Amino acid sequence: MPFDSKFQLTPEEMRKLGYQVVDQMVEHLSTMRDQPVMRLSSRQELEKKLREPLPEAPAPVEDILEKLQQDVWSNIGNVGHPRFFAFIPSPSNFVSVMADALVSGFNPFSGTWLEGSGPAEIELITIDWLREICGLPEGAGGLFVSGGSMANLTALAVARKFRLQDKIENAVIYFSDQTHSCVERAILVLGFHPDQIRKVQSDSAFRLRVDLLREALEADRSAGKTPFCLIANAGTTNTGAVDPLDELADLCESEGLWFHIDGAYGAAAAFCDKGRELLKGLGRADSLALDPHKWLFQPFEIGCVIVRDSDQLKETFRILPEYLKDTVRADEEVNFCDRGIQLTRSFRALKLWMSFKAFGAASFREAISRGILMAEFAENRLRSMKNWEIVSPATLAIVAFRYAPEDFSEDLINELNQLLIRMVLESDFALATSTVLNGRTVLRLCTINPRTTAVDISETLKWLDSLAAHASQQIIEKINQ
Ligand SMILES: Cc1ncc(COP(=O)(O)O)c(C=O)c1O
Repeated sequence: MPFDSKFQLTPEEMRKLGYQVVDQMVEHLSTMRDQPVMRLSSRQELEKKLREPLPEAPAPVEDILEKLQQDVWSNIGNVGHPRFFAFIPSPSNFVSVMADALVSGFNPFSGTWLEGSGPAEIELITIDWLREICGLPEGAGGLFVSGGSMANLTALAVARKFRLQDKIENAVIYFSDQTHSCVERAILVLGFHPDQIRKVQSDSAFRLRVDLLREALEADRSAGKTPFCLIANAGTTNTGAVDPLDELADLCESEGLWFHIDGAYGAAAAFCDKGRELLKGLGRADSLALDPHKWLFQPFEIGCVIVRDSDQLKETFRILPEYLKDTVRADEEVNFCDRGIQLTRSFRALKLWMSFKAFGAASFREAISRGILMAEFAENRLRSMKNWEIVSPATLAIVAFRYAPEDFSEDLINELNQLLIRMVLESDFALATSTVLNGRTVLRLCTINPRTTAVDISETLKWLDSLAAHASQQIIEKINQ
């Protein structure tokens, strides 16, 4: 029986579909460990399987779910797989998955207090928990956005407004050469020209070099430019490096610079003692980006921006047209549409709030410390294996390394590791991806998944070792040809 044309399902139909959907999810999540880490098809194959004209007639929903299972879910990377170590994994949790389902079902409009006071209060509280964990003072506040890219963009719009009154000509912005590309994109979106960006070289531990930053500031001031903002990393994507936040906070204070921290990946480490120690100075940011869909175990999409003076968000973004006047009520009621770019926005806070409550902060603390320990474990194992070289020691759950046989030249080692990565990508036992550090191609493991065991790491390293032996054999054969 097709569903009716008013898009209204009967209670029985809703329940039946709901159970079918939950069954599909539970089957996937409970067998994840035994599935390949990554499955993908070519564009041609998928066009063949999925391309069709817009369907005029309804199809049974069972058939649609079956099609999804066959051709769509079978072509995804399992970013929550315990041996998915690539990029930044996203090991989600089922409580938050159900929270997203609830949000979709109740569909609250989370842009104004009038239409979503309950959700707005939950968002205020959840942001406040994160504020406290990150060490920002009361009065700091923010909002949930789609991810780190939007969080950085939102924060930098506030910086532009409050340090430059939006007059961007002549202004200069600084960050290290290890900074995520979304920061540069945000700056360009905000209207700055590429020559207003200074990428400061990082040191041997991939932390921004403060001496070079000082030189750049001095040179720019002498040339009549206006330095206005520094972006520091609390956990780079490449290596997990944390810039010297305290020292940079001092410098920003004395130079009158806006101090933004990109903690999209690493700020969550503030939950545990070791992370807090590494992130000293985090709470001194004028603005901070962090990403619960990374190391706080949430499904996509949820990023967060916190600004030291939350009123600045409103002063940056608020525009009140006549058709929204009814939403302006008591001063203490927060209209989240005034704090960012989106008017219509979903209730992203619910999943984080529900998972904090259902698991407790102690579980988050333990899972995050465990992620750090797993990277240290991987580093120690690699150090005991022949021909493997640690290029960046375990930092905030990321370790970077390469296969470097003694008798290979630098160029050959790079070629070898590039070949190794191609082999890794063609296999599906585990997934690690590469990056380039000081001209060297390296592999990296990001070990934030709380379901990853020491055995997963050992087996992955053993598997990498055998692939590396094949790769070097191929290189040697090529040279000898
Ligand atoms: C340090 C850092 N900043 C920003 C981002 C961008 O975040 P998103 O992909 O959620 O937009 C990432 C993503 O990996 C990141 O690692």
